Amino acid sequence: MEIVLTGIKPTGTPHIGNYVGAIKPAVAASGNPRIHSYFFLADYHAIGGDADAVARSTLEIAASWLAVGLNPERVVFYRQSDVPEILELTWILHTVTAKGLLNRGHAYKAAVAENEATTGRDPDQGIMMNLYSYPVLMAADILMFKASKVPVGRDQKQHVEMARDIAQRFNHNFGETFVLPEPVIGEHIATLPGLDGRKMSKSYANVIPLFADEKALRKLVMKVKTNSLEPGQQKDPNDSALYDIYRAFATEEETAAIRASYAAGIGWGEMKQTLFERIDREIAPARAEYQRLMAAPGEVEALLRAGADKARAVSKPFLAEIRDRVGVRPLAR
Ligand code: TRP
Repeated sequence: MEIVLTGIKPTGTPHIGNYVGAIKPAVAASGNPRIHSYFFLADYHAIGGDADAVARSTLEIAASWLAVGLNPERVVFYRQSDVPEILELTWILHTVTAKGLLNRGHAYKAAVAENEATTGRDPDQGIMMNLYSYPVLMAADILMFKASKVPVGRDQKQHVEMARDIAQRFNHNFGETFVLPEPVIGEHIATLPGLDGRKMSKSYANVIPLFADEKALRKLVMKVKTNSLEPGQQKDPNDSALYDIYRAFATEEETAAIRASYAAGIGWGEMKQTLFERIDREIAPARAEYQRLMAAPGEVEALLRAGADKARAVSKPFLAEIRDRVGVRPLAR
């Protein structure tokens, strides 16, 4: 049985780009009976800033995945901080993590480069150890559950490769213990344009929240950037954010029909209405469930706790074995 694991860092509210790019394919894949899936909220990866924002986002993201159809009976769905063995393993992994490896981390290097761009600044100014050690915590997330496949965005590929290096070093020093993980990058998976035509991203403030209510969704779709062509003039689908978003939701037949409409000169107003209706049709049932779960945080909490129990049934005995390997042992039996 293949073990697939992925973490979601609870920062912000999911948008439709996260939905088509990550949530929907992951939920679909988790239905495959030959795959054993672990999904978790990486809350220890998200802390350090606004505390209420981390807590709120944890609930929003958990509710979103459940609302979209993640079946917590079939997969292991948990919150990282409910599995303390992960943090114990993080420290143990520090003993086989070269400082030079972490020096090469993209996020750390970017922070140093920013400091170096300012004369007279210490290269490490304002950089906290959690940024530096982020890949070690992520390695513990992955190695604890013997995941062989780790679906991630391109920006996380290096971290999975580091987890592999760390596992290899541990196995070499202490004997075969960890499975070497591989990153899985969804090459064919759509990255959606946002309202301004650039990649949809919280940092560009151009997102359409996944569970915006019907009115807000319509308003946002009306804001998607177009050119100044008039109704009746032929339009190019390959240069249209509206088309790219539509295609990510639609079937092949629907997409072909829209291409024909572009050729026939559909007006931007009409296309926006069509797009709004298509997104709303897909999202509306999940939106109702999302709203119900957001109003019942106790239900989400109970599901996450039950998920952590399943995760700990694996992590507790495995950590005991790992501790023994490194010499953390009871003095007598
Ligand atoms: N670092 C990932 C991100 O920012 C989230 C994450 C944490 C993760 N631990 C993980 C992803 C383990 C995959 C496996 O998106």
